Amino acid sequence: MASKKLLLTLDRITKDFPGTRALDDVTFDLYAGEVHCLVGENGAGKSTLIKILSGAEKPDKGELILFGKSYSQFTTSQAINFKIATIYQEVDLVDSLTVADNVFLGGELRNMFGIIDQKRQEISAAEIMERLKIKISPAVLVADLSPADRQILQIVKAIHRDAKIMVMDEPTSSLGFEETRALMDLIRELTSEGIGIIYISHYLQEVTEIGDRITVLKDGKLVNTYKKSTFSTKTLIRDMVGRNADEFFYKEEIPIKEEALNVNHYSKGDRVQDVSFTVREGEIFGIGGIVGSGRSELAALIFGADKKEDGELILKGRKITPSNPKQAIRHGICMITEDRKETGLFLDRPVVENIEIVNNELNTFLINLSTEKNHVSGIVESLNIYLSSIKQDIDSVSGGNQQKCILGRWLTTNADLFIFDEPTKGVDVGAKQEVYKIISNLSKQGKMIILISSDMPELISMSDRIGVIREGAMVSIMSKSEVTEQKLIKEYLGY
Ligand SMILES: Nc1ncnc2c1ncn2[C@@H]1O[C@H](COP(=O)(O)OP(=O)(O)OP(=O)(O)O)[C@@H](O)[C@H]1O
Ligand SMILES: [Mg+2]
Repeated sequence: MASKKLLLTLDRITKDFPGTRALDDVTFDLYAGEVHCLVGENGAGKSTLIKILSGAEKPDKGELILFGKSYSQFTTSQAINFKIATIYQEVDLVDSLTVADNVFLGGELRNMFGIIDQKRQEISAAEIMERLKIKISPAVLVADLSPADRQILQIVKAIHRDAKIMVMDEPTSSLGFEETRALMDLIRELTSEGIGIIYISHYLQEVTEIGDRITVLKDGKLVNTYKKSTFSTKTLIRDMVGRNADEFFYKEEIPIKEEALNVNHYSKGDRVQDVSFTVREGEIFGIGGIVGSGRSELAALIFGADKKEDGELILKGRKITPSNPKQAIRHGICMITEDRKETGLFLDRPVVENIEIVNNELNTFLINLSTEKNHVSGIVESLNIYLSSIKQDIDSVSGGNQQKCILGRWLTTNADLFIFDEPTKGVDVGAKQEVYKIISNLSKQGKMIILISSDMPELISMSDRIGVIREGAMVSIMSKSEVTEQKLIKEYLGY
C-alpha cells in the first residue's frame, strides 16, 4: 500500500428495505492508495453499501466516518463535495460535446470575454489523460467513443474534480479483455496517486488480481475481510456461497443430432457481413469476438429485432426468416438479451409481470400451467431468485437477480432455438452455475442454443463449437477439441 492513511469508514451500517435487511451491521473501511474489493452473491448488499456512500440511500443505523469526521448520512451533493466519485455503468455524459467539454462540464474554463476556452480545456484534459496514460483524444465527440472509453472518461472527470475515493460497481461487465486490462492499468495509476478505490465485481480472477483487500458480504452481513495473500478464489467462493463450489462448470457431453438451423448470408452494411453457419439439435454454438465486433448485431438480425439487408433462416427445414421479434417468437426462436435495462425489463412493473410478459403476449406458446402466480413462484424458486415478493418492482431487485428474471421469462416456452447474449453478465458465481445448468438442460432436450459470451472460460466450457466474429464477419469456426484461449484471442484480434 502506497500510504496508510485511512480515508473512510462505513461503521456498523444497517439498512432495511420493506421485506429485506439489505445491510446488517456492516463495517467497511478504505485507505488511501488501496483497492478494496467487495464481493458477494446477487442481492448480498454490495450496491446498497455504495449507494449509502454516494448519498443515494440513507442508512437506518451506523455512521460514515470520512477523513476523521463522522456523519449519520450523506446527500448526493455532499458525497461529490467530499471527493467521492461513483463511476456508473449508465453513463452521465453529454454525447454532443467533446471529451474535453465533458471533463469541464459545469466548471468551464473561460477566456476574458466569458466565452468557453476550448483550447485550454483540451490542453488541460490532455494533461490529465497523459498523466494516467489514457489514449483518448480530448477533441473528439463523446458520441464517437466506445462504451469502454466512456467509462474511462468518467474516471478522468472524477480526477479533474480531485476525487480521493472512487467507487466502481461492476466496471468490467461490458468490457472486453483488452479494455479490462487497460482499466486494471489505469486503476494502478490511480492508486499510485493515493486514490482509494472500492471495486465491486463478480469476476473473482479480477478481484484477486487487483485487490489489496477483499471483503465478502452474504445476505447483508459481513463474512470476512481478507488482506492480500490471504485470499484465493476458493475461499472467496466458499464465503460467498456458503459451501465449497467450483468456479467453472463442467458440462456433460450431450449427443448432438441433426442440423436443424441454417443461418445463410446474413448481412447488414459493414456491421454484419455475409455470416453463415449451422446449428444442430442439442448443440451449443458459441459466438466469440471482441466487444463491438458485431456479435449482438448478428443476434438482433436473426431475431428480427433489427432489419437485415440480406440473409435467410431455415429452422427445421422451413424457411422462416423473421422480420420482427414477434414472428421470431412465433416460429420458436427466443432471445435473452444482453442489456437488461434497454431491451429486457419493464422497470416500473413488478417481477411477476416481467416474467409473464412473454406468456401473456403469446399464451398459446406456453406449456399449460395452472395459475400465473404458481408459475412465476416456481420459476423464482427453481432459479433461486432472491426477492422479498414477486410483487416487488423489478427495479428494486439486485442486478444479478434481474438477469435471472429475464432468463426465467423464457424458460417455460416451447422454443426450438435460444439465443443467449451474455447470459451471466452481472450474475454471481453460484448463480452462474445455475444458468449453465439451465442452458445444458435445454440442450439435453434437443434445443438449439446460440451463446454469445465475452467470458472466455465460459464460452469454451459451454460451447460445442465456437464461431468467431471479427469486424462483422465470421472468420473461423472451431470445434471444442481444437479451441484454446490463445487461439481465440488470435482470431478475435486477427493477428
Ligand atoms: N429500493 C429497494 N427496495 C427494496 N429492496 C431493495 C431496494 N434496493 C435493494 N433492495 C434489496 O436489497 C438487497 C441488496 O441489494 P443490492 O442491490 O445491494 O445487492 P448486490 O449485492 O448489489 O447484488 P448484485 O450482485 O445482484 O448487483 C436485495 O435483496 C435487494 O432486492
Ligand atoms: Mg449490485
